[in-house]
Amino acid sequence: MKYEVVIPAAGQGKRMRAGVNKQFIELRHEPLIVRTLKVFDSDEWCDGIIVVINEAERIQFEQLFSRFHLNKIIAVVNGGEERQHSVYNGLKALKNSDIVLIHDGARPFVTVEHIHELVTAANKYGAAVPAVRVKDTIKKVHGQFVKETMERSSLWAVQTPQAFHVSLILQAHEQAKKEGYIGTDDASLVERIGGKVKIVEGDYRNIKLTTPDDLLFAEAILSSRASL
Ligand code: CTP
Ligand code: MG
Repeated sequence: MKYEVVIPAAGQGKRMRAGVNKQFIELRHEPLIVRTLKVFDSDEWCDGIIVVINEAERIQFEQLFSRFHLNKIIAVVNGGEERQHSVYNGLKALKNSDIVLIHDGARPFVTVEHIHELVTAANKYGAAVPAVRVKDTIKKVHGQFVKETMERSSLWAVQTPQAFHVSLILQAHEQAKKEGYIGTDDASLVERIGGKVKIVEGDYRNIKLTTPDDLLFAEAILSSRASL
């Protein structure tokens, strides 16, 4: 089953405090964005990759794409102020697939098996997201005091890639844009126009590299893979 994928990589990586966009950080001599792109480049279901970048970094990105022979990239488009704007710019560059995946450039540990589960679920239900059960107890806090304790059994932490019918996610983004709504993920835009979103049980290792600590976890994940 074919799909195209939009990869937002146009952030600044402020919380990583690396002095450069975290997409360029090397994990065992391979830049983060290259590791992420290679997974999709190697997936036979993937029909095209659209990377969303910051225009000021275009030359750096394009050099990496050619150096690492990432052959499935069909467009490199400019991002926007918020992640949601970047994703929308990417969606506008889609060619001709019925299914699109949206995946953070900063999540290099996604697997092809997991991608296929999500594509299959999105094809059936319209939208599908990977998620893991929350392990900690989550409390709502007002000021410095607890307001309430959430019921953990119904809480899931959602990741990417999020998979959609192209027409549904385009409609969801256009509606959000019209109403000036900014969500924290793409699926939430579908939810607010009444779309159903299927949960696909995910993998705790599919981390997003966000803060310097995540580099330690990334190294541990790479070590565990090497010893398989
Ligand atoms: N992203 C994007 N355009 C933006 C903001 C974020 O394409 N305007 C991308 C990032 O490059 C990243 C993904 O969205 O791959 C998830 O965002 P996040 O982890 O928040 O990355 P950054 O925004 O780069 O990091 P920070 O928030 O710490 O600055
Ligand atoms: Mg951000």
